[in-house]
Amino acid sequence: MNAVEVKNLYYSYDKEKYAVNDVSFTIPYGSYTTIIGHNGSGKSTIAKLLLGLLEKEKGEIKIEGLDLTYENLGEIRNRIGIVFQNPDNQFIGSTVRDDIAFGLENHCFEQAKMDSIIEEYAEKVGMTRFLDSEPTKLSGGQKQRVAIASVLAMGLNILVFDEATSMLDPTGKRDISNLINEIHNDKKLTVVSITHEIEEVAQSDYVIVVDNGKIALTGTPKEIFRHSDELIRMRLDIPFVYKVRNAFNAKGFKLSDTLDMEGMADEICQYVLKK
Ligand SMILES: Nc1ncnc2c1ncn2[C@@H]1O[C@H](COP(=O)(O)OP(=O)(O)OP(=O)(O)O)[C@@H](O)[C@H]1O
Ligand SMILES: [Mg+2]
Repeated sequence: MNAVEVKNLYYSYDKEKYAVNDVSFTIPYGSYTTIIGHNGSGKSTIAKLLLGLLEKEKGEIKIEGLDLTYENLGEIRNRIGIVFQNPDNQFIGSTVRDDIAFGLENHCFEQAKMDSIIEEYAEKVGMTRFLDSEPTKLSGGQKQRVAIASVLAMGLNILVFDEATSMLDPTGKRDISNLINEIHNDKKLTVVSITHEIEEVAQSDYVIVVDNGKIALTGTPKEIFRHSDELIRMRLDIPFVYKVRNAFNAKGFKLSDTLDMEGMADEICQYVLKK
């Protein structure tokens, strides 16, 4: 079963131009899917439509086979959660602890289990010592950590991260990304990550490329990165290993497409040894 199915989706903020223009895609259950696209291409709008935070104009959205309708909204939000691009928009509680608790209360967790879940997830994101702090007084990166802990603690099946680690330092990014991967693997979680981090895209199962409100490309990272010229035209980056390959190929080599630096080094060695 697909975790998410979107068919011929349209949305306009101003009734003049479509921010989401005839968008269709599917996200397999248990996959790690990345969504990429230039600024203003429509990624966050698509994410908000998936959660029913914006009302679609036309089209179909199914979450675990369930139609996203007003009547189904409660059930849908027991299955899918989001961490927004800007963490300021998602704090309700007066302390970090209250804030994580608020998310859990909404998902009917038993009071007795809540404290240990809150502490477990605060620890996982490195925020234990801030549990009694006011969320508004945290730095951007700390807010992102709390927002991620809140959504992970809820135990939902599908999580959407909209540039959710953009404010973290490189080590923090790596730690949180490892944590998300661990939970994704352990709990067969479906992860949808909107990101500008091309190395994260390279590690994902599937990639959806959005350009001017439309889906430009979909496929595995290898399939997507075969379209290097098109990606660059869309103001997107390609992984370092692809840049190296393209530079060699421009000089007459015929290196295969690989996402693995070691594999490429082996191919280059073969050429050198032949000479
Ligand atoms: N609240 C809003 N009101 C009006 N227009 C909006 C609103 N939010 C987004 N838009 C417009 O809709 C289009 C898509 O925006 P969206 O935020 O989905 O892009 P994005 O791909 O998430 O970009 P970014 O990479 O910068 O986060 C843009 O042209 C943007 O200007
Ligand atoms: Mg966005």
